[in-house]
Amino acid sequence: MQTTGEKLGIGLIGCGGRGAYLASVVQALAAEGEPVELVAVCDIYRPRRERVAQKFSAKAYARVSELVADPRVKGVIIATPDRAHVYNALEATRAGKDIYCEKPLTHWQQFEPLKELVREVRARKNIFQVGAQWVSDPLWLRAAEMVRQGAIGRITHAQSGYFRFGDSGERGMPVEDPNLTVGPDLDWDIFQADAPQRPFSVSRFFQWRMYMDYSGGPATDLYPHPMTRLFKVLGVGLPVKVVAVGGRWVYNGERDVPDTFDLLIEYPEKLTVAILGTITNASGIDTVIRGTEGTITFADGGFEIEPSPTSSKGRRRVGYLNSDREHMKNFLQSMRSRKPPNCDIELGYRVQVPLIMSMLSYVHGKVAYFDAATESIRLG
Ligand SMILES: NC(=O)c1ccc[n+]([C@@H]2O[C@H](COP(=O)([O-])OP(=O)(O)OC[C@H]3O[C@@H](n4cnc5c(N)ncnc54)[C@H](O)[C@@H]3O)[C@@H](O)[C@H]2O)c1
Repeated sequence: MQTTGEKLGIGLIGCGGRGAYLASVVQALAAEGEPVELVAVCDIYRPRRERVAQKFSAKAYARVSELVADPRVKGVIIATPDRAHVYNALEATRAGKDIYCEKPLTHWQQFEPLKELVREVRARKNIFQVGAQWVSDPLWLRAAEMVRQGAIGRITHAQSGYFRFGDSGERGMPVEDPNLTVGPDLDWDIFQADAPQRPFSVSRFFQWRMYMDYSGGPATDLYPHPMTRLFKVLGVGLPVKVVAVGGRWVYNGERDVPDTFDLLIEYPEKLTVAILGTITNASGIDTVIRGTEGTITFADGGFEIEPSPTSSKGRRRVGYLNSDREHMKNFLQSMRSRKPPNCDIELGYRVQVPLIMSMLSYVHGKVAYFDAATESIRLG
């Protein structure tokens, strides 16, 4: 454990778009006086690992096993593609490191490895923050507190979603080297992990979000954000059943992930949650939580609590903040205090299970049921 004032050494795993950005967040926090230092980076693609190592004066490693063996590394940031998260996290957890792991917690085909990770983190008590940074906006924490105090009675229904326009997040990912081949610059076997094994292609490596083998479309790439903050407010556990529909309504070609995806979740506490979205149109919906005694609407940079016609509770407005630095700061504070961060493994698990169920429902055209007794998913 660290003592106050000692610099926390951070190792970055995955030096692509998000990883390089999070390295700059750590650097900015250090410049503001936060006792933290990026000491090492790791990537299976040489040019990126060398570039980021040089920019942040950090040591470069080609393998996660080497980075987690570095005694200066006390915590890791995992910003690899979804498939790798759970294996990177297991390796770091077992090496005794604290973890800031990008969303989604795992790929949608990794329910068993997800459970293994949750068990391991619970047993070893590593600090684990899922990188769903919207939740660190104090707005959601305040709303959660108000709901706990009964501001809108018993919650029966909630909605949220993610709407944007364009496939810049998938087909638009930059192809840094169109002539790249497997060899000393890239370890393709490590990239594939437990995905169906395919021949190397430049697009699969640089634009992995287009493929179900490595991603899942809006549900897995975008919905962890609205779901995490909504679930923080709702305080829900694990679902009973999930059903999802969607498809490629606009974007086809190489891409095999959907561009439009809606999911409905039923909870044992008699609550239905709808998460809706598309990347074909940016007209969004408000996040709304409906209770037996009132409604919370999150819109225009704040939230409002309206009483139901039969409630005596008053109308209140609360304003917004932003969250990227807050979320990283919250992780660093947890590394020192050993108290759970805003999006710990428990909240991450409660988000990831319905996400996995929604993808299975969509792929198989069935309803996904969760059996709490056996902690298993069944399709029917
Ligand atoms: N929280 C957010 O707002 C947010 C925003 C963007 C991305 N993300 C998440 O960050 C992750 C990375 O996304 P990206 O856009 O930076 O992808 P990217 O392809 O730009 O970068 C991923 C990097 O990881 C490397 N890599 C792959 N497997 C590895 C392994 N096993 N070990 C070491 N390095 C490995 C790749 O070579 C690549 O350089 C994704 O899971 C994504 O969902 C989160």
